[in-house]
Amino acid sequence: MKIAGVIGWPVAQSLSPRLHAYWLKEHGIDGAYVKLPVRPEDFASVLRGLRQAGFRGVSVTVPHKEAAFALAHRVDAPAAEAGAVNQLVFHYDGSMEGLNTDVTGLAASLRDAGVDIAGKSVVLLGAGGASRAALVALRAMGAAEIRLLNRTEGRAGARSLAHWAEAARDVALVVNATSAGMQGGPALALDLAQLPKDAAVCDIVYNPLETEFLKRARAQGFKTVDGLGMLMHQAVPAFEAFFGITPKVTPGLRRILEDALAHG
Ligand code: ATR
Repeated sequence: MKIAGVIGWPVAQSLSPRLHAYWLKEHGIDGAYVKLPVRPEDFASVLRGLRQAGFRGVSVTVPHKEAAFALAHRVDAPAAEAGAVNQLVFHYDGSMEGLNTDVTGLAASLRDAGVDIAGKSVVLLGAGGASRAALVALRAMGAAEIRLLNRTEGRAGARSLAHWAEAARDVALVVNATSAGMQGGPALALDLAQLPKDAAVCDIVYNPLETEFLKRARAQGFKTVDGLGMLMHQAVPAFEAFFGITPKVTPGLRRILEDALAHG
């Protein structure tokens, strides 16, 4: 049996096991994908143990993505650029390869939604780890200018949210990479009327699936892209590395994840 998992602290809310279980069943693979709650101080030793126990690899989530980057023996280009790793592939020679599929997953999700930003300006909200991966993705998609805004000015070189109106004026896309829309959190109070009518609005948060920010954007007629697309697409290369088959992102997969989000 091929075994992989998701390692985080906490990890209880992760949808990754459902996602991988869906593909395992779909492809009739003798495999398992489990939740691994691991404290930061135990991360390195647990990774060693998982390799010794024959795991194929692990998906890495908060707060371990930078530690995974530091511990990987080699990393792919998006991981090198983001300084973070969200998939560790364990090879038979004992080495650990780090990938950043958050970066490629966001780009794939935006492409799937028909969002083209080549040569155009975009606004990126937030200056944490999620924002860093988004920045790399937007750059890779050919954005002409990425205007970084954050609640706290100066973090990662961001300007304050007070610059929203001037930054939003002529953009093709806004990506919310702040944690503002997360379950129970306060919504982002930005006036979307400042955006061009044909701009797309994307939120990286998928729980809730439709953040207040996206809800307002949809009500005002903007094309919206939720965080579930990125979640599904970031898992594709991981599943391929762990289980040997390239799975597909389908409406059926989206439905079971939406169902899981709705019913817990
Ligand atoms: P992550 O790794 O998920 O990006 P993080 O490093 O904690 O997490 O960053 C969270 C981001 O969301 C930050 O940009 C944070 O803004 P600050 O740098 O000012 O802390 C932003 N954020 C969180 N809650 C927010 C809120 N209510 N309004 C606006 N921005 C918020």
